[in-house]
Amino acid sequence: MTRTSTWQQILDPSHRADPYPLYTELRKTPVVRVEDGTYVVSTYREIVSLLHDPRLSSDARNLPEVGADAAAHADEEGFPGLPPNFIRIDPPEHDRIRRLLTRDFGPPHRPGRIDGMMPDLLRIVTSLIDDFTAKDGSGTDGSGTVRVDIVDDFAYPFPVAVICELLGVPREDEPRFQVMSGAVIETADPTTGGLAERQRRRAKAVADLGQYFAQLLDARHGRRGDDLLSGLLSGDSDEAPMSHEEILSNAALLLVAGHETTVNLVTNGMLTLLRHPEVLDRLRLGDEPDLAARVVEELLRYEPPVQFLSSGRNTLDDIEIAGTTIPRGSPVALVLASGSRDPDFVPDPDRFDPDRDHNEHLGFGGGVHYCFGAPLARPETQIALTQLAHRLKNPRLVADPPPYRASPSLRGPRHLLVEIDGVDPA
Ligand code: HEM
Repeated sequence: MTRTSTWQQILDPSHRADPYPLYTELRKTPVVRVEDGTYVVSTYREIVSLLHDPRLSSDARNLPEVGADAAAHADEEGFPGLPPNFIRIDPPEHDRIRRLLTRDFGPPHRPGRIDGMMPDLLRIVTSLIDDFTAKDGSGTDGSGTVRVDIVDDFAYPFPVAVICELLGVPREDEPRFQVMSGAVIETADPTTGGLAERQRRRAKAVADLGQYFAQLLDARHGRRGDDLLSGLLSGDSDEAPMSHEEILSNAALLLVAGHETTVNLVTNGMLTLLRHPEVLDRLRLGDEPDLAARVVEELLRYEPPVQFLSSGRNTLDDIEIAGTTIPRGSPVALVLASGSRDPDFVPDPDRFDPDRDHNEHLGFGGGVHYCFGAPLARPETQIALTQLAHRLKNPRLVADPPPYRASPSLRGPRHLLVEIDGVDPA
């Protein structure tokens, strides 16, 4: 098997349920150039080094093919649209936007923001689980057995409700923004087209979401609330404030990033717990206060929603790494999920073990782009899995493996059907 064919197999949907043996193969060559010219990096040490290397840019416009394509389509309606959001730009501009957003998200300015959301998180989860058996008998077969889809009935609506509340977006608008959010997510999938064409589709989808946010703000007629969008508009910082266009572009990023990954962590989590009933039982018993946190950290290592980062990362200079020179101007893919299972860094990496020490996974990335939403995603997933473990009676998988979404980079089940014998009271 050649390295190139290993990467192609990883991209192939037939390997979506279990790409991990292919990552083992990939790690035999830590840095490999694949057919489309991308340098694929698969070992822990090399990924961490590149995540912290300022010569690796997140701004796809540095790539000649993307820059030329953007210039060629600059006159088209909806393109280039809004300025790129901060996940797709480099310091110092990246850092300015991130600092401005952090003012309304956590310490030191809003230390109570996330803790203050906890009662709401629990309320949303409780109500979704209550509904499992309250759907007019739908899903029941008369024997008391209920069939639920952990994705549609729980793991999707939960983070959507949370991010709507955080941003001040009406939850009823979900059908509208879901189409645009799905379009953004699809562009992270390298099997859906060339990089330049995907960047163009991404810019268009972000511009559409931006237009949605512009209408939302217009409809508020300047009224401000306690939500993140209101905070951004107030601009009470010493930094140069965000322009209107920057606010729209970054609000779109938060909306998309705030739910599309959490749905997969909660679903991968429930699937993994059902495959490891001894851990599910420990979580159900509830007498180990730090177990939920350990389970979630181990899931971020063992079954991470973000398998790899590509979508425009590129070298600003030649970079020597693991005996290979990645030439300036090359696209790079960092396979986070492979790095987190690198046996040179993690003992017994293919074992799901919430009790492991020093769990330094790459599930939230690293360096300047380390996940902004991690302080929210962690308690969201802890609450979700703890409540499912406490309340579902005798849960069992209907199909293993379940059907997966197409994307190899943002990976998770499309549906996760589970049978239960009812739910215990909250
Ligand atoms: C389990 C859930 C989540 C996972 C696995 C996850 C994963 C990641 C990863 C791997 C990155 C790095 C991307 C890169 O380097 O290009 C990232 C960045 C980011 N995430 Fe998350 N994320 C999650 C939840 C969230 C939530 C809930 C939010 C919003 C509230 C969010 C907002 C962001 C933003 C804005 C960035 C860009 C940060 C920057 O460029 O400085 N994420 N996330």
